[in-house]
Amino acid sequence: MSDELVLLEKTPPLAVITINRPKALNALNSSVLSQLEQTLDQINEDEEVRVVIITGAGEKAFVAGADIAEMSKMSPLEGTNFSRYGQLVFKKIQELKKPVIAAVNGYALGGGSELALSCDFAYASENAKFGLPEVTLGIFPGFGGTQRLPRLIGKGRAKELILTGKMISAQEAYEMGIVNKVVPLDKLMEAVKEVAMQIAKNGPIALAVAKDLVDVGYDIPLDDGCILESRSFGMCCSTEDKKEGMQAFLEKRKPVFTGR
Ligand code: CAA
Repeated sequence: MSDELVLLEKTPPLAVITINRPKALNALNSSVLSQLEQTLDQINEDEEVRVVIITGAGEKAFVAGADIAEMSKMSPLEGTNFSRYGQLVFKKIQELKKPVIAAVNGYALGGGSELALSCDFAYASENAKFGLPEVTLGIFPGFGGTQRLPRLIGKGRAKELILTGKMISAQEAYEMGIVNKVVPLDKLMEAVKEVAMQIAKNGPIALAVAKDLVDVGYDIPLDDGCILESRSFGMCCSTEDKKEGMQAFLEKRKPVFTGR
């Protein structure tokens, strides 16, 4: 396996990002976060890539959290900066112009759960385990978990997970709405690529705007969100993709979207 901490495998229209530190169960240290950020920046500008998948190297872990050895030596200022940097990188995932799917192939603990939460949605393998065990270390989630988890599953269930630090199975994560699907480990990539290809066939501008509308709209009043939706809808009417999509329907053929 390569020495790179983050691998990028491009098979247009898909790209797979793999967190590649299997000996430490893909724990996120500053170097991994920095390589992940660079990879995200690169992919964001790559017009060949329409959908991104994030997974972990090996069969045991997606990401077992932020790096405990690195965090153990941090001063308050370093802790603040580390948390802010993790949040910034994960925000890049949320704000990426293309849909991002987490393929959770094992332990997704602490920063690993938070990484999955920053993706647009997640599929998990049957052996995956989720949890926010930070309180067992005397800290709490610092890469957005205290904010994204309650938005996804509600405050009560989020507080139970955050305050107990307990681990839950992939099936329990599915029942709570943390993951959309659970499949056997050897079928995970196939299942994720299948849904990714279904998404990749659609207009890239429509995908980017729809993703953004769901995220931005979630945190603002419904009426404001609907106004934003209408204005974005109008903007979308100016695109070549809209012309092509509707023309193709009327001509009973498949559309060829260019993202223009
Ligand atoms: N940071 C650094 N190293 C880690 C790690 C982490 N989060 N998780 C695992 N590792 C390392 C272990 O230290 C071990 O290294 P060595 O072989 O050099 O000893 C290696 O990965 C394999 O791990 P284990 O031997 O512990 O494997 P296991 O199968 O017995 O247990 C596990 C697996 C239950 C996931 C266990 O490794 C574990 O509990 N890991 C820590 C999980 C955790 O607490 N995550 C939250 C971190 S805090 C956080 O993420 C903060 C934030 O929000 C910003």
